[in-house]
Amino acid sequence: MPWNRRHLLTLEELSLAEIDQIHATAAAFKKILGRSVKKVPALRGKTIVNLFLEPSTRTRISFEMAAKRLSADVIAFDAASSSTTKGETLRDTAQNIQALNADLIVLRHSASGSPLYLSRVLDIPVVNAGDGAHEHPTQGLLDTFTMREHLGSLKGRKVVILGDILFSRVARSNIHALVKLGAAVTLVGPSTLVPDWFTALGAQVSHDLKSALADAEVVMLLRIQHERQSSSHFPSLGEYTGMFGLNQTRAGWLNPKAIIMHPGPINRGVEIDSDLADGPRSVILEQVTNGIAVRMAVLYLCSGGQPEAVLGTD
Ligand code: CP
Repeated sequence: MPWNRRHLLTLEELSLAEIDQIHATAAAFKKILGRSVKKVPALRGKTIVNLFLEPSTRTRISFEMAAKRLSADVIAFDAASSSTTKGETLRDTAQNIQALNADLIVLRHSASGSPLYLSRVLDIPVVNAGDGAHEHPTQGLLDTFTMREHLGSLKGRKVVILGDILFSRVARSNIHALVKLGAAVTLVGPSTLVPDWFTALGAQVSHDLKSALADAEVVMLLRIQHERQSSSHFPSLGEYTGMFGLNQTRAGWLNPKAIIMHPGPINRGVEIDSDLADGPRSVILEQVTNGIAVRMAVLYLCSGGQPEAVLGTD
C-alpha cells in the first residue's frame, strides 16, 4: 500500500495499516542506525525547520538527529530570539519559514489544534511534535514501537497508563494507537485526572491501582502536568505519590515480565521511584533511542518517501 499522507497531525486519524507502515519503516531505519555509517541520503537537499514554541529536550533533539541521519538540513527555531516576542503570529511566522523555502515544519505548540491550523494555511508538510493536551503522535508511535519490540503483537495485551491522563497528549496518542493495535488499555489515577469519559476512546478507566496493575504487561507512568492545570486536582503531591506513585511494592503487582515506561521528563519520587526508573524492567531510555528511528520514518514518509524503498534494507 503506498503512503499518501503529507502531514502527521494525530494518531486518531491514522489507520492500523498506516501505523504498521510507520513502524516497519522505523524498524528499517533502526537497522541503519546500528551501522558504523548511520546516515542515508533520503532527504538530501531538503530543509526541515523545528518550530518549537514550548520547552522540549527529547523531542526537539530527536527530530534534529532524525533529520540529520536522513541528510536533511535542519534549522532549530529559537523562540526566545525570534520575532514571536514582538507579537508575530504563528501563521505569519510559519508562512515566512515557508517563503524561506523550508520543505517541512515540525511544530510543538501549547495550543491544541495548532498543527492542523498550520496544515491548512501552508503548502508544505507539518508534523505535530506535541500540541497542548491534544496529541503527541510521534511519542505514541515510538512508545508502541518499543512495546512491540518487547511483546510482539499487542493484541489482548494489558497496558496500563497511570497518572495525569486528563492533561496528557501522550496518553491520548497512546490510547488511539493501542486501541487500533488491539491492546487492552486501562487508565488509572485519581478521578479528577482520569474522568470516566475516556472510556469513549476505547480504554477502561480505574481508580483502584492494585486491580489495575494486576497482571499488566506494560505500565506507562505520566507526570503531573502542572503547566496545563488551571486548578489543583489533588490535595498535594505527597498525597498523590502516596496513593498512585509506582514503588517496588506496587510494581510487584505487575506481570513478572512487565516493562515500565515513561515518556519523560520524569519527576523522580513523585510518579515513579528512582530504583524502578533505573531498574532492569525500565525501558525508558530505549523509548528515547527508538524515537530517532520512528521520527526518521515520519519525516521520510511525510516528505514523499515510500516504505518499499527502505524495507528490507540491511
Ligand atoms: N516526551 C517528551 O515530549 O519530552 P520533551 O518534552 O522533553 O520533548
